[in-house]
Amino acid sequence: MRALGSALIASLALVTSFVAAHQEPKTPEEIEVQRALQAAAYHCAPAVERFTAARKRSWARKVLAGRPELPGYQELFNAGVYDDEPETLPATESDGQTLMGCTPVSTTKIQNNTCVLTPVTTEGPYYHEAGHLIRQNIAEEQDGLLLLLDIGVIDVNTCKPLPNVLVDIWQANATGHYAGHPLPKPEHVNTKPQVGGKRNGLLPPFPRTVQEETWLRGAWPTDENGVAQFTSIFPGYYTGRATHIHAKVFPEWTPHENGTFSGKRLVHVGQFFFDDDINIVIDKMHPYTENPIRNTYGRTRNWRDSLNIFEDSLGPEGKYNPIFKMHLLGGVVRQGLIGYITMGVDANADIDNWWKG
Ligand SMILES: *[C@@H]1O[C@H](CO)[C@@H](O)[C@H](O)[C@H]1NC(C)=O
Ligand SMILES: *[C@@H]1O[C@H](CO)[C@@H](O)[C@H](O)[C@H]1NC(C)=O
Ligand SMILES: *[C@@H]1O[C@H](CO)[C@@H](O)[C@H](O)[C@H]1NC(C)=O
Repeated sequence: MRALGSALIASLALVTSFVAAHQEPKTPEEIEVQRALQAAAYHCAPAVERFTAARKRSWARKVLAGRPELPGYQELFNAGVYDDEPETLPATESDGQTLMGCTPVSTTKIQNNTCVLTPVTTEGPYYHEAGHLIRQNIAEEQDGLLLLLDIGVIDVNTCKPLPNVLVDIWQANATGHYAGHPLPKPEHVNTKPQVGGKRNGLLPPFPRTVQEETWLRGAWPTDENGVAQFTSIFPGYYTGRATHIHAKVFPEWTPHENGTFSGKRLVHVGQFFFDDDINIVIDKMHPYTENPIRNTYGRTRNWRDSLNIFEDSLGPEGKYNPIFKMHLLGGVVRQGLIGYITMGVDANADIDNWWKG
């Protein structure tokens, strides 16, 4: 698993925002709290990096086990290979709590927040309130590039990994369709994407017509280390939107006998992205080349994402990164990729589903 070059490095995904991010901070006091939360994120960076490094080592063992012929195999197990962060900070004591190397709370303005929240962004029109299965492999029969997802969740109240919360994800297939929403209604067939404005490039959402489809949708609880891992394919694109994967986090949910669940309390709704450099590579691979808008509207770059969703995901200060940190699973891209991301959520939050259209 080699890093994909300097352009793809980065992406500390512990992004931030106000608890109910869809309520824009307005008063000077609210804006001040927001900015302090943002600033606090930096203090958790070493903790997040160590969290990610441990997860990478674990994947290396899993993926490469029994394949010692791969070049570079042995060196992957050498100490320091995954230490992206040169310094390991000691854990600090504050208010009787050990905070995984985060700056003690007393030095930040927010007394009861030491990490920050990943910005809440719209859930969009393609979520299914019911029918997402509790499973790790969400690919079903969909063709595409193997993509393993390693999604870490940290509680911003403690700066510690958050076990046993349900991470619920959904994404488009290689040619930009969501399960259940395959074709536009007849009245939408000739609709053109909006030109200009916040909805630039967007078509009306395709309605759900195939209720029973479940591919590229699924949810899995975080393990004792606060991580949920999934097997999927790299998502395709559709008009107006940067390539992305949606996520919700439920600390409380009811599993059903048929394998689905009902979400109860919700602490996060957001979207993850990929570096445009990797999107460009995968755009040229089959079946991504079959995307019906490839030669018309083309893929929307992150910076042109409609409704400002990518920009909003960076947080108001623009210093955070909702982009997966990608690594190759084998010697070449076609053998698949693994994407790491860490979310900061407020485990005590109770937010509404939110679709701003
Ligand atoms: C601390 O937490 C309480 C309860 O969650 C909240 O009402 C208060 O605004 C928080 N204080 C700060 C400075 O964030
Ligand atoms: C994506 O889903 C649509 C709708 O089901 C389907 O027509 C298309 O073939 C799928 N793309 C791929 C690459 O399988
Ligand atoms: C699964 O079970 C739940 C709860 O009983 C039910 O609401 C839902 O319709 C079922 N889904 C399917 C696909 O049968």
